[in-house]
Amino acid sequence: MNVRLFTKAQFRIGTPSLADVTSPVDKEWANRIRALAAEKDAVILAHNYQVPEIQDVAHHVGDSLALSRIAATVPESTIVFCGVHFMAETAKILSYDKTIIIPDERAGCSLADTITADQLREWKAQHPGAVVVSYVNTTAAVKAETDICCTSSNAVEVVQSIPADVPVLFCPDQFLGAHVQRMTKRDNMHIWMGECHVHAGINGSELKAMVAAEPDAELFVHPECGCATSAMYLASEGVVPAERTHILSTGGMLDAARTTKAKKVLVATETGMLHQLRKVNVTTVFEPVNRAAVCKYMKMITPEKLEHALVHGTDVVDVPRDIADRARLSVERMIAIGTPSRVGE
Ligand code: 13P
Ligand code: SF4
Repeated sequence: MNVRLFTKAQFRIGTPSLADVTSPVDKEWANRIRALAAEKDAVILAHNYQVPEIQDVAHHVGDSLALSRIAATVPESTIVFCGVHFMAETAKILSYDKTIIIPDERAGCSLADTITADQLREWKAQHPGAVVVSYVNTTAAVKAETDICCTSSNAVEVVQSIPADVPVLFCPDQFLGAHVQRMTKRDNMHIWMGECHVHAGINGSELKAMVAAEPDAELFVHPECGCATSAMYLASEGVVPAERTHILSTGGMLDAARTTKAKKVLVATETGMLHQLRKVNVTTVFEPVNRAAVCKYMKMITPEKLEHALVHGTDVVDVPRDIADRARLSVERMIAIGTPSRVGE
């Protein structure tokens, strides 16, 4: 398989600061959290969908790919992962000797739950010789059955790295799979019919109504969205100009937000994303396509639970060594491919 080598120079890790925490109460809490982290030799990583307080206190904020890259190289002996369980598992796979903590181990992912390792083994048996590409939103056991993982920011490049005549099994997200198929024009891709309940709920009719009401706005659409197909359809039909419709990972949205000249951007993803978007661009108005697009799993990580996790060292995330060893190759191939998105500090 043709994959490029991962080098440390592909991403940046800067000096963390608490410049964004302004209220005195929050500042006191944030200083306490940072002091605890220093005392425990811990680094705090937060996904772009976390609540604002957690994004602002974290040492690094980013999308799944950027956070995986950071987890693989940070010097601290403990990683406190403010995100969902599969993200913390990925950190464990990449940094097996470190202690990985998630403030609430019940923070799962409805998309990761749509395929088990047994189901994947059965699917592989039906397609001998196919290469398995799994979205990073999967359990460690599924990753152990996978040839190469991907995230929304590098899924197209990952599939393009596989020789054109080799069939691909793509799991578990059907909307991301459809997006990749459209971009690569591959006719030998089999797609698992999983979906994320939050993104599947952002549908084409809502999007169409908002676009009609805001004819000058740009559109940022996460490829997990049920509306991604409709967004592309609206663009190809000329209902919204293609140059104003962008299908982007959460990290890709931040990069696009830094340079957009639009007065308004309609954002089709989990609403936690708006915090970082509004921070990197204070002149553009960012509005959610669906205000109810809230991931209850991401929001299980609260400021109180983060403090509890640092004080008590729980919940520890473990992956059996044999599964981690098999999963590592597919995750390392993933972080070797694609342009790194920036991380916030
Ligand atoms: P990103 O890879 O874009 O960060 O998305 C992760 C995720 O869980 C989206 O729902
Ligand atoms: Fe999983 Fe969807 Fe939540 Fe992302 S938004 S973590 S895919 S349930």
